Amino acid sequence: MEFQLSEDHKMIQQMARDFAQKEVAPFAAKWDAESHFPIEAIKKMAEIGFMGIMVPPELGGGGMDQVAYVLVLEEISAACASTAVTMSVNNSLYCIPIVKFGTDAQRQKYVVPFAKGEQLGAYCLSEPGTGSDAANQRTTAVKKGDKYILNGTKNFITNGPNADAMIVFAMTDKEKKHKGISAFIVEKGFKGFSVGKVEHKMGIRASSTSEIVLTDCEVPAENLLGKEGEGFAIAMNTLDAGRIGIATQAIGIARAAFESSVKYSTIREAFNQPISNFQLIQQKIADMAMRIDASRLLTHRAAWMRQNNIPMSKEAAMAKLFSSETATFVTKEAVQILGGYGYCCEYPQERHYRDAKITEIYEGTSEIQRIVIARNVLKELTA
Ligand code: CAA
Repeated sequence: MEFQLSEDHKMIQQMARDFAQKEVAPFAAKWDAESHFPIEAIKKMAEIGFMGIMVPPELGGGGMDQVAYVLVLEEISAACASTAVTMSVNNSLYCIPIVKFGTDAQRQKYVVPFAKGEQLGAYCLSEPGTGSDAANQRTTAVKKGDKYILNGTKNFITNGPNADAMIVFAMTDKEKKHKGISAFIVEKGFKGFSVGKVEHKMGIRASSTSEIVLTDCEVPAENLLGKEGEGFAIAMNTLDAGRIGIATQAIGIARAAFESSVKYSTIREAFNQPISNFQLIQQKIADMAMRIDASRLLTHRAAWMRQNNIPMSKEAAMAKLFSSETATFVTKEAVQILGGYGYCCEYPQERHYRDAKITEIYEGTSEIQRIVIARNVLKELTA
Protein backbone atom coordinates (compact mmCIF):
# COMPACT_ATOMS: atom_id res chain seq x y z
CA MET A 1 0.00 0.00 0.00
CA GLU A 2 1.26 3.45 -0.94
CA PHE A 3 0.01 6.62 0.76
CA GLN A 4 2.45 8.99 -0.93
CA LEU A 5 1.89 10.99 -4.08
CA SER A 6 4.24 10.27 -6.99
CA GLU A 7 6.76 12.94 -8.02
CA ASP A 8 4.57 13.76 -11.06
CA HIS A 9 1.52 14.15 -8.87
CA LYS A 10 3.42 16.39 -6.42
CA MET A 11 4.58 18.53 -9.34
CA ILE A 12 1.10 19.02 -10.79
CA GLN A 13 -0.27 19.73 -7.30
CA GLN A 14 2.36 22.45 -6.70
CA MET A 15 1.78 23.92 -10.14
CA ALA A 16 -1.97 24.04 -9.51
CA ARG A 17 -1.45 25.58 -6.06
CA ASP A 18 0.80 28.34 -7.44
CA PHE A 19 -1.65 29.04 -10.24
CA ALA A 20 -4.72 29.04 -7.98
CA GLN A 21 -3.19 31.30 -5.36
CA LYS A 22 -1.97 33.80 -7.98
CA GLU A 23 -4.69 33.81 -10.61
CA VAL A 24 -7.85 32.77 -8.78
CA ALA A 25 -7.81 33.32 -4.98
CA PRO A 26 -7.19 37.10 -5.04
CA PHE A 27 -10.36 37.66 -7.12
CA ALA A 28 -12.75 35.13 -5.57
CA ALA A 29 -14.43 37.54 -3.13
CA LYS A 30 -15.04 40.15 -5.86
CA TRP A 31 -16.41 37.59 -8.33
CA ASP A 32 -18.71 36.27 -5.60
CA ALA A 33 -19.94 39.74 -4.61
CA GLU A 34 -20.63 40.65 -8.24
CA SER A 35 -21.86 37.20 -9.34
CA HIS A 36 -19.24 37.51 -12.06
CA PHE A 37 -18.63 34.40 -14.18
CA PRO A 38 -14.83 33.94 -13.93
CA ILE A 39 -14.11 33.88 -17.65
CA GLU A 40 -10.59 35.33 -17.18
CA ALA A 41 -9.58 32.47 -14.88
CA ILE A 42 -11.17 29.87 -17.15
CA LYS A 43 -9.20 31.15 -20.16
CA LYS A 44 -5.97 30.92 -18.15
CA MET A 45 -6.91 27.46 -16.85
CA ALA A 46 -7.52 26.40 -20.44
CA GLU A 47 -4.01 27.52 -21.42
CA ILE A 48 -2.45 25.21 -18.84
CA GLY A 49 -4.72 22.27 -19.68
CA PHE A 50 -7.04 22.33 -16.66
CA MET A 51 -10.28 22.25 -18.68
CA GLY A 52 -9.61 18.75 -20.03
CA ILE A 53 -7.19 17.22 -17.56
CA MET A 54 -8.18 13.57 -18.07
CA VAL A 55 -8.94 13.86 -21.80
CA PRO A 56 -6.34 12.09 -23.99
CA PRO A 57 -3.79 14.46 -25.62
CA GLU A 58 -4.94 13.47 -29.14
CA LEU A 59 -8.34 14.96 -28.21
CA GLY A 60 -6.87 18.20 -26.92
CA GLY A 61 -6.62 17.20 -23.26
CA GLY A 62 -3.91 16.86 -20.66
CA GLY A 63 -3.86 13.04 -20.71
CA MET A 64 -3.52 12.90 -16.94
CA ASP A 65 -5.15 10.50 -14.52
CA GLN A 66 -8.02 10.84 -12.05
CA VAL A 67 -5.67 11.45 -9.10
CA ALA A 68 -4.00 14.37 -10.91
CA TYR A 69 -7.48 15.70 -11.61
CA VAL A 70 -8.51 15.73 -7.94
CA LEU A 71 -5.20 17.29 -6.90
CA VAL A 72 -5.70 20.18 -9.32
CA LEU A 73 -9.38 20.54 -8.51
CA GLU A 74 -8.71 20.76 -4.75
CA GLU A 75 -6.34 23.67 -5.35
CA ILE A 76 -8.83 25.54 -7.55
CA SER A 77 -11.62 24.81 -5.03
CA ALA A 78 -9.58 26.17 -2.13
CA ALA A 79 -9.12 29.37 -4.13
CA CYS A 80 -12.66 29.74 -5.55
CA ALA A 81 -15.45 27.17 -5.32
CA SER A 82 -17.30 28.73 -8.26
CA THR A 83 -14.35 28.48 -10.63
CA ALA A 84 -13.87 24.91 -9.45
CA VAL A 85 -17.37 23.72 -10.30
CA THR A 86 -17.19 25.36 -13.72
CA MET A 87 -14.01 23.38 -14.36
CA SER A 88 -15.35 20.19 -12.82
CA VAL A 89 -18.54 20.11 -14.93
CA ASN A 90 -16.60 20.69 -18.16
CA ASN A 91 -14.11 17.94 -17.27
CA SER A 92 -16.06 15.15 -15.65
CA LEU A 93 -19.72 15.69 -16.59
CA TYR A 94 -19.22 16.84 -20.17
CA CYS A 95 -15.89 15.83 -21.80
CA ILE A 96 -15.34 12.44 -20.19
CA PRO A 97 -18.72 10.84 -21.04
CA ILE A 98 -18.25 11.85 -24.69
CA VAL A 99 -14.71 10.42 -24.68
CA LYS A 100 -16.11 7.24 -23.12
CA PHE A 101 -19.43 6.73 -24.91
CA GLY A 102 -19.13 8.92 -28.05
CA THR A 103 -18.25 8.15 -31.65
CA ASP A 104 -14.98 9.34 -33.21
CA ALA A 105 -16.83 12.13 -34.99
CA GLN A 106 -18.51 13.23 -31.74
CA ARG A 107 -15.15 13.23 -29.94
CA GLN A 108 -13.53 15.40 -32.63
CA LYS A 109 -16.37 17.91 -32.73
CA TYR A 110 -17.55 17.95 -29.13
CA VAL A 111 -14.48 17.11 -27.06
CA VAL A 112 -11.44 18.73 -28.73
CA PRO A 113 -12.46 22.43 -28.44
CA PHE A 114 -13.96 21.81 -24.98
CA ALA A 115 -10.91 20.02 -23.57
CA LYS A 116 -8.80 22.89 -24.91
CA GLY A 117 -11.10 25.32 -23.07
CA GLU A 118 -12.12 27.15 -26.25
CA GLN A 119 -15.70 26.13 -25.57
CA LEU A 120 -17.61 25.16 -22.42
CA GLY A 121 -19.81 22.15 -21.70
CA ALA A 122 -22.72 21.34 -19.36
CA TYR A 123 -24.77 18.35 -18.23
CA CYS A 124 -28.57 18.44 -18.22
CA LEU A 125 -30.22 15.75 -16.13
CA SER A 126 -32.29 17.56 -13.47
CA GLU A 127 -35.76 18.82 -14.29
CA PRO A 128 -38.19 20.96 -12.27
CA GLY A 129 -40.06 17.87 -11.03
CA THR A 130 -37.24 15.36 -11.39
CA GLY A 131 -34.15 15.97 -9.29
CA SER A 132 -33.33 12.98 -7.13
CA ASP A 133 -35.67 10.67 -9.07
CA ALA A 134 -33.53 10.90 -12.19
CA ALA A 135 -35.15 7.88 -13.87
CA ASN A 136 -38.42 9.77 -14.10
CA GLN A 137 -37.37 12.05 -16.98
CA ARG A 138 -40.15 14.17 -18.47
CA THR A 139 -38.17 15.67 -21.33
CA THR A 140 -39.03 13.74 -24.48
CA ALA A 141 -37.12 12.98 -27.66
CA VAL A 142 -38.99 11.77 -30.72
CA LYS A 143 -37.16 10.61 -33.83
CA LYS A 144 -38.27 12.31 -37.05
CA GLY A 145 -36.22 11.41 -40.11
CA ASP A 146 -32.61 12.26 -39.47
CA LYS A 147 -33.39 14.34 -36.37
CA TYR A 148 -34.67 13.95 -32.83
CA ILE A 149 -37.17 16.54 -31.63
CA LEU A 150 -36.63 17.34 -27.94
CA ASN A 151 -39.19 18.98 -25.67
CA GLY A 152 -38.80 19.78 -21.98
CA THR A 153 -37.14 21.95 -19.37
CA LYS A 154 -33.94 21.19 -17.49
CA ASN A 155 -33.07 23.13 -14.37
CA PHE A 156 -30.19 23.95 -12.02
CA ILE A 157 -27.80 23.50 -14.93
CA THR A 158 -24.28 24.50 -13.93
CA ASN A 159 -22.62 26.52 -16.76
CA GLY A 160 -26.09 26.69 -18.43
CA PRO A 161 -25.95 30.35 -19.55
CA ASN A 162 -22.33 30.05 -20.74
CA ALA A 163 -22.22 26.56 -22.24
CA ASP A 164 -21.69 26.02 -25.96
CA ALA A 165 -22.92 22.42 -25.88
CA MET A 166 -24.35 20.06 -23.31
CA ILE A 167 -25.31 16.47 -22.71
CA VAL A 168 -29.10 16.29 -22.41
CA PHE A 169 -31.03 13.27 -21.12
CA ALA A 170 -34.51 12.65 -22.54
CA MET A 171 -37.12 9.92 -22.71
CA THR A 172 -37.23 8.17 -26.09
CA ASP A 173 -39.56 5.39 -24.86
CA LYS A 174 -41.59 6.09 -21.71
CA GLU A 175 -42.89 2.51 -21.52
CA LYS A 176 -39.39 1.25 -20.84
CA LYS A 177 -38.92 3.60 -17.84
CA HIS A 178 -35.20 4.15 -17.13
CA LYS A 179 -34.31 1.88 -20.07
CA GLY A 180 -36.17 4.32 -22.32
CA ILE A 181 -33.85 7.25 -21.50
CA SER A 182 -31.31 8.39 -24.11
CA ALA A 183 -28.48 10.92 -24.08
CA PHE A 184 -27.94 13.65 -26.68
CA ILE A 185 -25.30 16.25 -27.40
CA VAL A 186 -27.12 19.54 -27.87
CA GLU A 187 -25.55 22.77 -29.10
CA LYS A 188 -26.76 26.15 -27.87
CA GLY A 189 -27.35 27.20 -31.49
CA PHE A 190 -29.78 24.39 -32.33
CA LYS A 191 -33.28 25.48 -33.37
CA GLY A 192 -35.61 25.37 -30.35
CA PHE A 193 -32.85 25.73 -27.73
CA SER A 194 -32.97 28.55 -25.21
CA VAL A 195 -31.56 29.49 -21.83
CA GLY A 196 -34.36 29.99 -19.29
CA LYS A 197 -34.34 31.51 -15.82
CA VAL A 198 -30.89 32.30 -14.44
CA GLU A 199 -30.63 31.47 -10.73
CA HIS A 200 -29.40 33.78 -7.97
CA LYS A 201 -27.88 31.56 -5.35
CA MET A 202 -26.89 31.47 -1.68
CA GLY A 203 -23.30 30.46 -2.57
CA ILE A 204 -21.04 29.67 -5.54
CA ARG A 205 -22.37 32.93 -6.91
CA ALA A 206 -19.69 33.28 -9.57
CA SER A 207 -20.75 29.97 -11.10
CA SER A 208 -23.59 30.32 -13.59
CA THR A 209 -26.76 28.24 -13.16
CA SER A 210 -29.89 28.29 -15.28
CA GLU A 211 -32.79 26.47 -16.81
CA ILE A 212 -32.38 25.08 -20.31
CA VAL A 213 -35.59 25.12 -22.33
CA LEU A 214 -36.08 22.80 -25.29
CA THR A 215 -39.05 23.65 -27.51
CA ASP A 216 -39.25 21.36 -30.52
CA CYS A 217 -35.48 21.48 -30.37
CA GLU A 218 -33.96 19.86 -33.46
CA VAL A 219 -31.02 17.60 -32.70
CA PRO A 220 -29.28 15.70 -35.54
CA ALA A 221 -29.62 11.92 -35.11
CA GLU A 222 -25.81 11.59 -35.14
CA ASN A 223 -25.79 13.53 -31.84
CA LEU A 224 -27.31 10.59 -29.96
CA LEU A 225 -24.66 9.67 -27.35
CA GLY A 226 -24.39 5.89 -27.02
CA LYS A 227 -27.44 3.93 -28.12
CA GLU A 228 -31.11 4.64 -27.56
CA GLY A 229 -32.02 3.48 -24.04
CA GLU A 230 -28.46 3.75 -22.68
CA GLY A 231 -28.96 7.27 -21.31
CA PHE A 232 -29.63 6.34 -17.67
CA ALA A 233 -26.59 4.11 -17.43
CA ILE A 234 -24.47 6.89 -19.01
CA ALA A 235 -25.94 9.42 -16.55
CA MET A 236 -25.21 7.23 -13.50
CA ASN A 237 -21.74 6.21 -14.63
CA THR A 238 -20.90 9.87 -15.28
CA LEU A 239 -22.22 10.93 -11.87
CA ASP A 240 -20.04 8.33 -10.13
CA ALA A 241 -17.02 10.29 -11.37
CA GLY A 242 -18.74 13.66 -10.95
CA ARG A 243 -19.25 12.88 -7.27
CA ILE A 244 -15.50 12.51 -6.81
CA GLY A 245 -15.23 16.03 -8.22
CA ILE A 246 -17.79 17.45 -5.79
CA ALA A 247 -16.12 15.64 -2.88
CA THR A 248 -12.90 17.34 -3.94
CA GLN A 249 -14.57 20.71 -4.23
CA ALA A 250 -15.88 20.26 -0.67
CA ILE A 251 -12.37 19.41 0.58
CA GLY A 252 -10.93 22.52 -1.08
CA ILE A 253 -13.60 24.77 0.47
CA ALA A 254 -13.09 23.15 3.90
CA ARG A 255 -9.31 23.45 3.67
CA ALA A 256 -9.44 27.16 2.81
CA ALA A 257 -11.77 27.85 5.75
CA PHE A 258 -9.69 25.66 8.07
CA GLU A 259 -6.28 27.15 7.26
CA SER A 260 -7.41 30.75 7.50
CA SER A 261 -9.31 30.25 10.76
CA VAL A 262 -6.43 28.35 12.40
CA LYS A 263 -4.03 31.17 11.43
CA TYR A 264 -6.47 33.69 12.84
CA SER A 265 -6.68 31.77 16.12
CA THR A 266 -2.92 32.13 16.61
CA ILE A 267 -3.04 35.91 16.12
CA ARG A 268 -6.30 36.85 17.78
CA GLU A 269 -5.92 37.41 21.54
CA ALA A 270 -8.54 37.13 24.26
CA PHE A 271 -7.97 37.01 28.00
CA ASN A 272 -4.33 38.08 27.30
CA GLN A 273 -3.40 35.17 25.07
CA PRO A 274 -3.94 33.80 21.56
CA ILE A 275 -7.27 32.01 21.39
CA SER A 276 -5.48 28.95 19.94
CA ASN A 277 -4.28 28.32 23.52
CA PHE A 278 -7.81 27.52 24.61
CA GLN A 279 -8.84 23.89 24.57
CA LEU A 280 -12.31 24.62 23.20
CA ILE A 281 -10.63 26.17 20.13
CA GLN A 282 -8.19 23.24 19.98
CA GLN A 283 -11.11 20.84 19.99
CA LYS A 284 -12.48 22.60 16.91
CA ILE A 285 -9.05 22.52 15.24
CA ALA A 286 -8.67 18.79 15.93
CA ASP A 287 -12.15 17.88 14.65
CA MET A 288 -11.76 20.02 11.54
CA ALA A 289 -8.32 18.58 10.73
CA MET A 290 -9.44 15.00 11.25
CA ARG A 291 -12.55 15.32 9.10
CA ILE A 292 -10.68 17.01 6.24
CA ASP A 293 -8.05 14.28 6.32
CA ALA A 294 -10.66 11.49 6.34
CA SER A 295 -12.49 13.18 3.45
CA ARG A 296 -9.32 13.32 1.40
CA LEU A 297 -8.51 9.66 2.08
CA LEU A 298 -12.00 8.56 0.98
CA THR A 299 -11.85 10.77 -2.10
CA HIS A 300 -8.38 9.73 -3.21
CA ARG A 301 -9.38 6.08 -2.82
CA ALA A 302 -12.44 6.59 -5.02
CA ALA A 303 -10.32 8.45 -7.60
CA TRP A 304 -7.74 5.68 -7.61
CA MET A 305 -10.49 3.05 -8.07
CA ARG A 306 -12.03 4.97 -10.97
CA GLN A 307 -8.64 5.30 -12.60
CA ASN A 308 -8.10 1.55 -12.28
CA ASN A 309 -11.57 0.68 -13.62
CA ILE A 310 -12.71 -0.81 -10.31
CA PRO A 311 -16.46 -0.38 -9.63
CA MET A 312 -16.70 2.55 -7.21
CA SER A 313 -20.29 3.83 -6.99
CA LYS A 314 -20.37 3.15 -3.25
CA GLU A 315 -16.91 4.62 -2.62
CA ALA A 316 -17.68 7.75 -4.68
CA ALA A 317 -20.94 8.21 -2.76
CA MET A 318 -19.10 7.79 0.56
CA ALA A 319 -16.45 10.31 -0.50
CA LYS A 320 -19.05 12.85 -1.63
CA LEU A 321 -21.28 12.39 1.41
CA PHE A 322 -18.50 12.58 3.99
CA SER A 323 -16.60 15.42 2.31
CA SER A 324 -19.66 17.60 1.76
CA GLU A 325 -20.83 17.17 5.36
CA THR A 326 -17.25 17.93 6.41
CA ALA A 327 -17.28 21.13 4.38
CA THR A 328 -20.48 22.28 6.06
CA PHE A 329 -19.11 21.39 9.51
CA VAL A 330 -15.66 22.92 8.99
CA THR A 331 -16.88 26.18 7.44
CA LYS A 332 -19.40 26.63 10.27
CA GLU A 333 -16.67 26.12 12.89
CA ALA A 334 -14.40 28.50 10.98
CA VAL A 335 -17.03 31.25 11.19
CA GLN A 336 -17.36 30.50 14.91
CA ILE A 337 -13.59 30.81 15.51
CA LEU A 338 -13.63 34.28 13.94
CA GLY A 339 -16.81 35.23 15.82
CA GLY A 340 -18.29 38.54 14.59
CA TYR A 341 -15.52 38.92 12.01
CA GLY A 342 -16.43 35.53 10.57
CA TYR A 343 -19.94 36.80 9.92
CA CYS A 344 -18.71 39.87 8.02
CA CYS A 345 -17.86 39.91 4.33
CA GLU A 346 -14.43 41.43 5.01
CA TYR A 347 -13.24 37.89 5.84
CA PRO A 348 -13.70 34.87 3.54
CA GLN A 349 -15.35 32.66 6.19
CA GLU A 350 -18.94 33.64 5.39
CA ARG A 351 -18.33 32.91 1.68
CA HIS A 352 -16.86 29.49 2.42
CA TYR A 353 -19.87 28.76 4.68
CA ARG A 354 -22.31 29.70 1.91
CA ASP A 355 -20.31 27.84 -0.77
CA ALA A 356 -20.08 24.63 1.27
CA LYS A 357 -23.83 23.95 1.44
CA ILE A 358 -24.31 23.20 -2.25
CA THR A 359 -21.89 20.27 -2.06
CA GLU A 360 -24.54 18.47 0.04
CA ILE A 361 -27.11 19.03 -2.70
CA TYR A 362 -25.85 18.89 -6.28
CA GLU A 363 -24.72 15.77 -8.17
CA GLY A 364 -26.94 13.83 -5.76
CA THR A 365 -28.09 15.02 -2.33
CA SER A 366 -26.69 13.51 0.88
CA GLU A 367 -29.92 11.52 1.12
CA ILE A 368 -29.27 10.01 -2.34
CA GLN A 369 -25.65 9.19 -1.43
CA ARG A 370 -26.92 7.29 1.63
CA ILE A 371 -29.30 5.33 -0.61
CA VAL A 372 -26.47 4.46 -3.02
CA ILE A 373 -24.21 3.36 -0.13
CA ALA A 374 -26.90 1.33 1.64
CA ARG A 375 -28.04 -0.43 -1.56
CA ASN A 376 -24.46 -1.42 -2.36
CA VAL A 377 -23.83 -2.66 1.17
CA LEU A 378 -27.04 -4.71 1.14
CA LYS A 379 -26.09 -6.20 -2.25
CA GLU A 380 -22.59 -7.08 -1.02
CA LEU A 381 -23.73 -8.62 2.24
CA THR A 382 -26.64 -10.62 0.85
CA ALA A 383 -24.96 -11.83 -2.35
N1 CAA B 1 -23.60 3.08 -13.03
C1 CAA B 1 -24.21 2.38 -14.03
N2 CAA B 1 -25.49 1.94 -13.94
C2 CAA B 1 -26.16 2.20 -12.80
C3 CAA B 1 -25.59 2.91 -11.73
C4 CAA B 1 -24.25 3.34 -11.88
N3 CAA B 1 -23.65 4.03 -10.91
N4 CAA B 1 -26.49 3.03 -10.74
C5 CAA B 1 -27.61 2.40 -11.16
N5 CAA B 1 -27.40 1.90 -12.41
C6 CAA B 1 -28.34 1.11 -13.19
C7 CAA B 1 -28.79 -0.09 -12.38
O1 CAA B 1 -27.89 -1.17 -12.48
C8 CAA B 1 -30.13 -0.40 -12.99
O2 CAA B 1 -29.92 -1.08 -14.20
P1 CAA B 1 -30.83 -2.36 -14.60
O3 CAA B 1 -32.24 -1.92 -14.63
O4 CAA B 1 -30.28 -2.78 -15.92
O5 CAA B 1 -30.58 -3.39 -13.52
C9 CAA B 1 -30.66 0.98 -13.35
O6 CAA B 1 -29.52 1.84 -13.45
C10 CAA B 1 -31.65 1.53 -12.36
O7 CAA B 1 -31.02 1.59 -11.11
P2 CAA B 1 -31.84 1.87 -9.78
O8 CAA B 1 -32.93 0.84 -9.64
O9 CAA B 1 -30.86 1.97 -8.66
O10 CAA B 1 -32.52 3.28 -10.11
P3 CAA B 1 -33.39 4.26 -9.23
O11 CAA B 1 -34.45 4.83 -10.06
O12 CAA B 1 -33.79 3.60 -7.95
O13 CAA B 1 -32.39 5.49 -8.96
C11 CAA B 1 -30.72 6.76 -7.86
C12 CAA B 1 -31.17 5.41 -8.43
C13 CAA B 1 -29.40 6.44 -7.20
C14 CAA B 1 -31.67 7.34 -6.84
C15 CAA B 1 -30.51 7.76 -9.04
O14 CAA B 1 -31.73 8.17 -9.58
C16 CAA B 1 -29.71 8.99 -8.63
O15 CAA B 1 -28.48 8.96 -8.57
N6 CAA B 1 -30.41 10.14 -8.35
C17 CAA B 1 -29.72 11.40 -8.12
C18 CAA B 1 -29.51 12.12 -9.41
C19 CAA B 1 -28.47 13.20 -9.32
O16 CAA B 1 -27.38 12.99 -8.79
N7 CAA B 1 -28.79 14.37 -9.89
C20 CAA B 1 -27.87 15.46 -9.97
C21 CAA B 1 -27.78 15.92 -11.40
S1 CAA B 1 -26.32 16.73 -11.91
C22 CAA B 1 -26.34 18.23 -11.16
O17 CAA B 1 -26.35 18.29 -9.98
C23 CAA B 1 -26.36 19.49 -11.98
C24 CAA B 1 -25.09 20.09 -12.32
O18 CAA B 1 -25.03 20.81 -13.29
C25 CAA B 1 -23.85 19.92 -11.48
